[in-house]
Amino acid sequence: MSSVSGLLAGKSVLITGASAGIGAAAARVFCREGAAVTLVARREAELAALAAELAAAGHRARYAVADVSRAADAARAVAVAVREFGRLDAAFNNAGVSVPAEPMHLMDDAAYDTVMDTNVRGVWNCMRYEVAAMLEGGGGGSIVNNSSTAGLVATVACSPYIASKHAVIGLTRAAANEYGPAGIRVNALATGGTRSDMLAGWLAGDHPAREEAMAGKAMLRRLAEAREIAEAAAWLCSDRSSYVTGAAVPVEGGRLSR
Ligand SMILES: NC(=O)c1ccc[n+]([C@@H]2O[C@H](COP(=O)([O-])OP(=O)(O)OC[C@H]3O[C@@H](n4cnc5c(N)ncnc54)[C@H](OP(=O)(O)O)[C@@H]3O)[C@@H](O)[C@H]2O)c1
Repeated sequence: MSSVSGLLAGKSVLITGASAGIGAAAARVFCREGAAVTLVARREAELAALAAELAAAGHRARYAVADVSRAADAARAVAVAVREFGRLDAAFNNAGVSVPAEPMHLMDDAAYDTVMDTNVRGVWNCMRYEVAAMLEGGGGGSIVNNSSTAGLVATVACSPYIASKHAVIGLTRAAANEYGPAGIRVNALATGGTRSDMLAGWLAGDHPAREEAMAGKAMLRRLAEAREIAEAAAWLCSDRSSYVTGAAVPVEGGRLSR
């Protein structure tokens, strides 16, 4: 019997976008729940510091410096998880970017490419190697892709971001349908406004007033803490959500029902 207890006891879980915000919070929550984690992002210093923090607390954490928009990087990151922990049980594909909100006709191609390359191609790249590793392991698996309320409705004034997050839900449903028979579940989070560097970017300028306006749209009348999104991801990664797949799970304080 494993000496580790928790929702993710003994599971090998890969987290992208783990150098900051929701991904870093997920690393702490998943470890608390017994997972061995592989942290993935582009900034090595942040990943190394987080891995050291987790190891000092007695957890198992490794990291892979990778740009998820590059297939070879995604392949290498998944290979690190399998090499270090013997297999891959779950993945939280959370890496994402946004660009300043502007009317569509004023945006340039670079803004579109930046968002699509990370948010859509990144999820595509990661899922393909994750699924391959899970099929190889033969024990099923669980993949969680971080979409957004903007993956379901036009909650922000940034068209490439909205398009990218809708695409994440499309990829989620496609993969859930393809790999359900192999016992691999794939879900998305329809994440609401959450305190992070990305949100600070959106709120730049008139910060308190914009924050209040955004928070006020949720039934709970506040923004999420990154940890609250990570808790939902942990449940979806775990066997406790065993009959949930192909879903876009709202974690948005009631924003979409109001
Ligand atoms: N905050 C919100 O209000 C909110 C709402 C809905 C959905 N979301 C989604 O939640 C996810 C996490 O966002 P956050 O708020 O935690 O933002 P954040 O604090 O800016 O963190 C973004 C993370 O993604 C990583 N990343 C970006 N591009 C990458 C790439 N090409 N390859 C690998 N890693 C990359 C960043 O690390 P490096 O820079 O080190 O690569 C960082 O760790 C995103 O997908 C975002 O769209 C956020």
